Amino acid sequence: MEISYWQSRWEKGNTGWHMDTVYPPLPNLWNHLGMNAEAQVLVPLCGKSLDLLWLADHCDTVTGVEVSPKALQYVMQEHNESFAQDYSHGFSIYRSDSLVLWQGDYAKLPADQIPSQDLIYDKASIIALPAEKRSRHANKTIELSNSDTQLLIQTFEYNQSEMSGPPFSVDEQELKKLFGHWFKLKCIHEQSKLEELQKFKRRGLSSFLTEKVFHLTPSNSG
Ligand SMILES: C[S@@+](CC[C@H](N)C(=O)[O-])C[C@H]1O[C@@H](n2cnc3c(N)ncnc32)[C@H](O)[C@@H]1O
Repeated sequence: MEISYWQSRWEKGNTGWHMDTVYPPLPNLWNHLGMNAEAQVLVPLCGKSLDLLWLADHCDTVTGVEVSPKALQYVMQEHNESFAQDYSHGFSIYRSDSLVLWQGDYAKLPADQIPSQDLIYDKASIIALPAEKRSRHANKTIELSNSDTQLLIQTFEYNQSEMSGPPFSVDEQELKKLFGHWFKLKCIHEQSKLEELQKFKRRGLSSFLTEKVFHLTPSNSG
């Protein structure tokens, strides 16, 4: 699943993952974390998710990272602020008062240019990647974290032999392998989704589909 795969999906308007609402569990998850209005939040592989705008209303600055210029144009159209553009480290960067959008490959994001983050919100992000690309993604997230950074990671679990991704099935054991050296993991949201997401049934899924959200806190904290 190369970047060209995603570029082509954006070009064709084949963005079936996009939700026309904010991710419904987000407000409760946000309250659970106890984040405040000064928080800095990073959203890897952000697409044109409306979560960016919800988060921008609830924290200080949201930094989104996305390879598709088209996706970020949508976000800027929907956001009621003006953006200044500059270029750095091979990325186009669009900044408004509350949103900073980096257009380019997340794995190449220069960590020394990104301020310290309170939360990294990984929604439909690590599960968009095939197994061989997940450790590079996870390592970048770890590199962008400091001793106080919390992570929220949304996953799907299903029988991978019934359907090919994306989205891919990523279970707790794999997240522990990728992040467990640095973070403690706790599942804080779990919901069966097979009936709601009929499109996955049409792709062959028949046994189960469980959505989970994991809260990861630095393992050196209390
Ligand atoms: C399944 S979509 C999810 C988008 C968003 N998180 C959401 O919930 O709507 C995955 C997104 O990741 C972007 N993407 C894939 N690989 C990327 C990479 N290496 N760097 C930045 N963005 C990437 C794609 O263009 C696509 O918009």
